[in-house]
Amino acid sequence: MAPSPAKTASEQEDQMFRLLRQLDSAPDASQRVTAAAIGVSLGRLNALLKQATETGLVKITDRNGPDKRARFAYAITARGAAEKNRLTDKVLARKFAEYDALHAELTGASSTLVPIKHRTELMQNNLAPIPELYVSYDSAQKLKVEAADLTSWDLSPRQICDLELLMNGGFNPLKGFLSEEDYNGVVENMRLADGTLWPMPVTLDVSEDFADSIEIGQDIALRDQEGVILGTMTVTDRWTPNKAREAEKVFGADDLAHPAVNYLHHSAGNVYLGGPVTGIQQPVHYDFRGRRDTPNELRALFRKLGWRRVVAFQTRNPLHRAHQELTFRAAKEAQANLLIHPVVGMTKPGDVDHFTRVRCYEAVLDKYPSSTTTMSLLNLAMRMAGPREAVWHGIIRRNHGCTHMIVGRDHAGPGKNSAGEDFYGPYDAQDLFREHQEEIGIEMVDFKHMVYVQERAQYEPADEIADKDDVTILNISGTELRRRLAEGLEIPEWFSFPEVVRELRRTRPPRSKQGFTVFFTGFSGSGKSTIANALMVKLMEMGGRPVTLLDGDIVRKNLSSELGFSKEHRDLNIKRIGYVASEITKNGGIAICAPIAPYAATRRHVREEIEQFGAFIEVHVATSIEECERRDRKGLYKLAREGKIKEFTGISDPYDVPENPELRVETENVEVDNCAHQVILKLESMGLIAGN
Ligand code: PPS
Repeated sequence: MAPSPAKTASEQEDQMFRLLRQLDSAPDASQRVTAAAIGVSLGRLNALLKQATETGLVKITDRNGPDKRARFAYAITARGAAEKNRLTDKVLARKFAEYDALHAELTGASSTLVPIKHRTELMQNNLAPIPELYVSYDSAQKLKVEAADLTSWDLSPRQICDLELLMNGGFNPLKGFLSEEDYNGVVENMRLADGTLWPMPVTLDVSEDFADSIEIGQDIALRDQEGVILGTMTVTDRWTPNKAREAEKVFGADDLAHPAVNYLHHSAGNVYLGGPVTGIQQPVHYDFRGRRDTPNELRALFRKLGWRRVVAFQTRNPLHRAHQELTFRAAKEAQANLLIHPVVGMTKPGDVDHFTRVRCYEAVLDKYPSSTTTMSLLNLAMRMAGPREAVWHGIIRRNHGCTHMIVGRDHAGPGKNSAGEDFYGPYDAQDLFREHQEEIGIEMVDFKHMVYVQERAQYEPADEIADKDDVTILNISGTELRRRLAEGLEIPEWFSFPEVVRELRRTRPPRSKQGFTVFFTGFSGSGKSTIANALMVKLMEMGGRPVTLLDGDIVRKNLSSELGFSKEHRDLNIKRIGYVASEITKNGGIAICAPIAPYAATRRHVREEIEQFGAFIEVHVATSIEECERRDRKGLYKLAREGKIKEFTGISDPYDVPENPELRVETENVEVDNCAHQVILKLESMGLIAGN
């Protein structure tokens, strides 16, 4: 037989693309059907299958079907699925080029066509579906079985959010977690290695142990917290990032007061893995399912509704009347429809939980003229990175089919740094957005600061009020609102909608009805347990909330009986206490903890966990080590001095003195009763206990 003519590289690529697509959508088809579907001879199909198998894109499986003569079948692998996604983009670009050439030949006018580079962008704008990383349903079922044998990584809540947006196209053009080269580009100048604008590192951070167990080129399974496999990743890169540099460049400062910097140093693993992702299934959400949309679902909705121009409003806070006014004005100004697009993944620690917020948003949605506005929930894990985050939000909204986005003062601001100053200037986010607006592919709509003019009983943009000095301008800041909620004070109707206030009050009862945690820390024998016991009795006497004492010794007997006193074990012990206390606090009870808790970083971790739900009052029982040793109530200091107890806090193990505890009590020459009373006074001053 004459050898088949040599194939050009693009022909080969086309055939490989068609083969992978065919195996993805119809993995059980016979070879004859597969060959016909991709338009090649059986001989060529075999050559292609051989090549694909050798390069790991396809694997041979046993055929269980009735056709015994054909014993083998071919199935696309995770790597094959990723390659298929990559080839889709390449083939599409080539088809455009061919079309342009044909157009030029037929009409003699090539310049009238939109350049290929912009073609996909233009098509995607509200119209064309956006690429996803998911494989077909059939392949997903197969891949899931295959992936069960792979080494797997249990994703953190933040990684689950990132993975969802990678897989559903929300992070388009990313095809997986960033490679080292892309990461370096993003950190240094907000660009991927190929020059594409991308402002935020989206990395798979893992522990050193896990990273050591992986070989480059290996596929790993990515599991959610219940162990469900959501996707696979082919690890192409593994590196140890310079976290201080990442913090400086991406967040503007290596300062732990920034929530993302704190996360980077204290929660993120020390090694990053990068590589293309193959999507198997979306993370499961049980809440507000009807309000969650993928980028393609939103695009389809906009197509169906005929919405050509859509303004997105990003938010992580409840909406009040001013927000409703400003969003509606923004939409009118842009002659567009409005998408309320709140983040429900992870926002700033301390924010109102998303369940409450969504109930509030639903109430506000009724206030817009019908069919002008819709709402969809975005499972994004925010980083609070101000300007870079604004650009990121823009790209994400573009991917969701929006044409405009409202960017306000201090967009995605993280609050104050450790010197008490703002991390970013109030208009930095707007400036950076404006600079890159064209490349992002979405237009910025200025956020008007709306205030209430009492005389005219309406909201007006603050900078458009001509008679400022003759009218009464009312405004309630976020801090003031939180204070009023915390103290159960009135929130006027001009400020918010009664339905919204009702929801907020249900979740945020006044402080005197919320749960809280009192966390004593100090040396062994400092008097923590004695004061904690006295405090418990006093609080029980007052009644109203259940009180639980998590004393060091009690916990070590019941919760941490297998633990010793190494740093690792102490951290685990304190984290367990923190977890139990956070549950008690969340459910409206009072938790009193009294461990030594010698390490500041662990105490900070516990504080953050608890402050999501209620107040955390750190009480440093400041008895000196000399006094504790002199008292030596349990005889342990003597044993520690003799070296019979190792790693004894204050003797042979460190104690980080709390720098800013809510309260510091001295116990030398002070009655226990008085110490406990000082705590009670502190709780009263914080509004946590009040008269009936
Ligand atoms: S920690 O560091 O917070 O996990 O310690 P904690 O759970 O509070 O347990 C401290 C009690 O254990 C006894 N003990 C030791 N303390 C410190 N260092 C060493 N090596 C050690 N070994 C035993 C000690 O009695 C502590 O009790 P308290 O109630 O603090 O006196």
